[in-house]
Amino acid sequence: MQRFRRLRANAAMRRMVRETRLDPAELIYPIFVAEGENIKNPVDSMPTVFQYSIDRLPDILPQIADSGISGLLIFGIPAHKDARGSEAYNDNGVTQRAVRYIKEHYPDMLVIADVCLCEYTDHGHCGLVCGGRILNDETLPLLCAMSVSLARAGADIIAPSDMMDGRVAAIRQALDENGFIDTPIIAYSAKFASGYYSPFRDAAHSAPGFGDRKTYQMDPANGREALREIADDIAEGADMVMVKPALAYLDVLRAARERFDLPLVAYNVSGEFSMVKAAAQLGWIDERRIVMENLTAIKRAGADIIITYHALDAAEWIKEERL
Ligand code: PBG
Ligand code: ZN
Repeated sequence: MQRFRRLRANAAMRRMVRETRLDPAELIYPIFVAEGENIKNPVDSMPTVFQYSIDRLPDILPQIADSGISGLLIFGIPAHKDARGSEAYNDNGVTQRAVRYIKEHYPDMLVIADVCLCEYTDHGHCGLVCGGRILNDETLPLLCAMSVSLARAGADIIAPSDMMDGRVAAIRQALDENGFIDTPIIAYSAKFASGYYSPFRDAAHSAPGFGDRKTYQMDPANGREALREIADDIAEGADMVMVKPALAYLDVLRAARERFDLPLVAYNVSGEFSMVKAAAQLGWIDERRIVMENLTAIKRAGADIIITYHALDAAEWIKEERL
């Protein structure tokens, strides 16, 4: 008889044979920065998550710096929205100023800039709109301008999340032409049109004003197409690729891990976070246990880097479990 239980007999034995370990260095924490002063607004659908104005970032940045995680993913919430998302590529926009502020005070913290128009457009779509359609090629120059503007502000990594075709090549060329040859791109390559983003759209004020995102984000049913999206972004020059959401797409993460050798990023999105928080608040699950199990599952499936709203808690728990 195979006695599997021999290696499970006690904590020391289990620890020694454990196949997957988490490390704070592979975690990234998303933050929302709003135009204005003295703002620290709780996001109702995301307990413990806030929108901060730049002057209130000191409420959270020291904790991020001390946690041992690698950095943050920044989303800006401008005061002014228009059809072309002008604030997205304004060198003095809220996101650019926030990036400058963070890099000035915490030069070692990696700042990843999400590049997409939906927080900046009055219609809430990720690209330019004409006659109810989301334009692809016409959107690319705006994404390029936004990327260059954020790189100029000091962003360490550019992360396009818009799902327009050809944007990685266009952004790579724009960054290079403007002297940012060393700024890496994380491509949101396999980004699915998911119901799991709805709390985020409260947090970032980015819900589409009409229709949905299904003409540009992927159909949740399509695993093979996800691999084609990833292959294409790699060919266009992505330095890292992403699968998003994470938990309902672990098969895609695993397939991507087996096929590609670039760093693979998983985004444990807002809806995944809020479901855990809600059940924990009701006393129906043990939050710490569930979070650690979820993050371990995402890593076991093949992710190298995990973007998660649990990052700060998880970093503490990981450190405690190592003792
Ligand atoms: C913007 C963007 C979204 C998320 C990250 N960047 C929302 C969307 O595409 O509607 C979702 C993140 C989350 O749910 O945590 N394009
Ligand atoms: Zn968007």
